[in-house]
Order: sequence, then structure tokens, then C-alpha cells
Amino acid sequence: MSRDGRWKSGRGPCRERTLRSLGGWRGVALLAAFAAATTALALMLTSHGALAAGRNSTTPIGSGPSAAPLAPLHGASRFALDISNLFWIILAESGVVFFLVILALAINIVRFSHKPGQDDEPKQIYGNRRIEVAWTAIPAVILLVALVLTIVTMNAVNSPAHAASALKVEAIGHQWWWEFRIPKYHVVTANEVHLPVHTLVQVDTTSVDVIHSFWIPQLDRQIDATPNNHTIVYIDADRTGTFPGACYEFCGADHAWMQFRAVVQTPARFQAWARREAGAGASPASVQGANGQSVFFSQSCASCHTINGTPANGTAGPNLSHVGSRWGIAGGVLPMSERNLERWVRDPQIYKPGALMPAFDLKKSDLHALAAYLYSLK
Ligand code: CUA
Repeated sequence: MSRDGRWKSGRGPCRERTLRSLGGWRGVALLAAFAAATTALALMLTSHGALAAGRNSTTPIGSGPSAAPLAPLHGASRFALDISNLFWIILAESGVVFFLVILALAINIVRFSHKPGQDDEPKQIYGNRRIEVAWTAIPAVILLVALVLTIVTMNAVNSPAHAASALKVEAIGHQWWWEFRIPKYHVVTANEVHLPVHTLVQVDTTSVDVIHSFWIPQLDRQIDATPNNHTIVYIDADRTGTFPGACYEFCGADHAWMQFRAVVQTPARFQAWARREAGAGASPASVQGANGQSVFFSQSCASCHTINGTPANGTAGPNLSHVGSRWGIAGGVLPMSERNLERWVRDPQIYKPGALMPAFDLKKSDLHALAAYLYSLK
């Protein structure tokens, strides 16, 4: 403040004029525009999260990272619902605070903005104990409510009752695909896991290389899959359906192509799937398929891949016993088809640069036969 009692800012009267011009109704209009824009943004984001679930079944595969919609607000598992309910409560709490602050600001802008001829110093309230206590206690209570609800939700999601009897599924992150094992049913598969509905499932995640993050937005919470460590999430799906999952932590060049599907089925269908998955890969039913099988064993495919019921028992790459039945190839980079299997085997690096799978310099007829054999493994 200057000696003559007038407010003085660092940049002189120009800044003072700007501040004054923002007072009164002009300031309130600006504030209203800000509040409207923020509300519109919040509505847009939350409705997108809720609506994306409706696009599940028709999601284009292999069309970019958006292929796996984020629909955490459309939970299909009690744990995902616990988390989305917490989100809505905290959003509502924040919304109320936001509008009260905007309202208080608007009232103060109108009431206390500079009026012509009013040049004396405004009343000073520095050190007012009632105000100090109020603006410390009210936020503390608001944050305490959020904290208690968060702890209750964390407990419900991370330590459900009867956890010991849950069906155990192992999810192992690889650059860039997911391996799934269900020890109880001797299932080893990749990029697609089936789960029984209304059944508590314990997913034990780990990684063989770098840190990945396992998440099926509609079914569980996000969890880091880290090397030399095991982290656990629980799923208890309340309806059948196909739910997209993906890796949610940047883990190298093809992080975006580390997508997978969780197919929730009735217990009977799930068991039929598990029996089939654990069983041997189909024997070639055609001459071309038989040729393809010989190509598979004449190359080094078997040193990285397993096909149940054959001498192929490599573990570096995905288990291929039933590869033809899966939704996509190589974490979703290509939709599953015989033609795409052929494209992939011809030169994987075109579709997934940096993937461990090398290109094999195969004759066209051999490539054809190999793709036919792989696609017949359903
Ligand atoms: Cu694995 Cu990102």
C-alpha cells in the first residue's frame, strides 16, 4: 500500500485497473463460465467412462490403443463397483465444495468489488480466529470422510471374505503379452482368460521382465505386475460377458499392444473351456495342416512355444495349443484369422517392432500350411 492509503500493485495503476475491471458482474460472468466449463468437462469424462462399456462387443480389434475401452464406471464385479461407488461419492463431495466456493466467490465479487469514490482501505480480517478455525476444520472433515471411505473400500477390495478358497489365476506379464495359468485346471494360455461368474477369483500377477500393470477396468482394480514379486487382485464377476483388459503402465515400444480379454462364463461353460484348454492341441485334419505341422517342427517354433500333446514345449512365447480360438493375435495387434496368422509369422516385426518373435524366411507354400495348422488349433 502506498503512503496515501491507496492499494498499489507491483505493476502500478495498469494492473489495478485490470483487477477493478474484473470486479462486479463482469467477474461473476467469468466465474460462471469457468464453473460451466468445468461441470461440462466432468460430465463428459464420467459419461464417457460409463458409456464405453456399451461398445465392448463391437470394439474394433487392432485399430489402436483405443481398442480397449476404459469403462471402470460400468463395473461388472463387486470390487469394481466398490471402487466406482467411492469415485461417485468423492466426485459428489468435490462437486458440492466446488459450487460452494464458486458461490462464495461470486457473492464476494459483487459485494466487495471497488465502487466509485470508495478509496479507503477495506476492513482487515487477518488473524480472525473464527475464520481460521472454520477454514481448517471444514476441509479436515471433508478429507476425513474421503479417507475413511477410501480405507473401507480398500479393505473390501483387497481382503474379501473367503479369500483362501478363491479360484487362483496367475497373470504373468511379458513384453508384450499376458500369460495366464489356472493351476487347478492345468490351463496355460495367453491374452485371453476365461473366468466363472459369481465366483471369487484371486489373480496373482507377476512379470518376467519389466514392470507391467494388470487391469480389467470393469472387473478389478489396477495392479502393478512386477518382476520377482507377486501382487494380488480379486475379481467376483456379477454377469457373463467379454471384458477388455490391458497393460496400463508403459513397458516398452509395444506397451499399447498388450491387450487381453476376460471372458466371464457360467461355471459349466467355464469348466468346459478349461478342460479344452488343458487338453492337447488338435491333430491336423487336412494335408495342408499336416504340412504346416511339419513346418512348425522343422523350424525352431517348438523351442519357444508349447502345443499340448506334441513335443513342442517351449515357454518363452505364448502357449499355442488353442491359439486359433483366441480373439486376437499378439496382444490384439491383429484380429484372429488364418490370413492374419500368416501375416504375423511372415514378419512379426512389421506389426510389433521389438517383439521377441523373429521373422522366418519361409516359402509361400510353407507359410500357408503353417498358418492353416495354427488356425486349426482351436
Ligand atoms: Cu506391459 Cu505396458
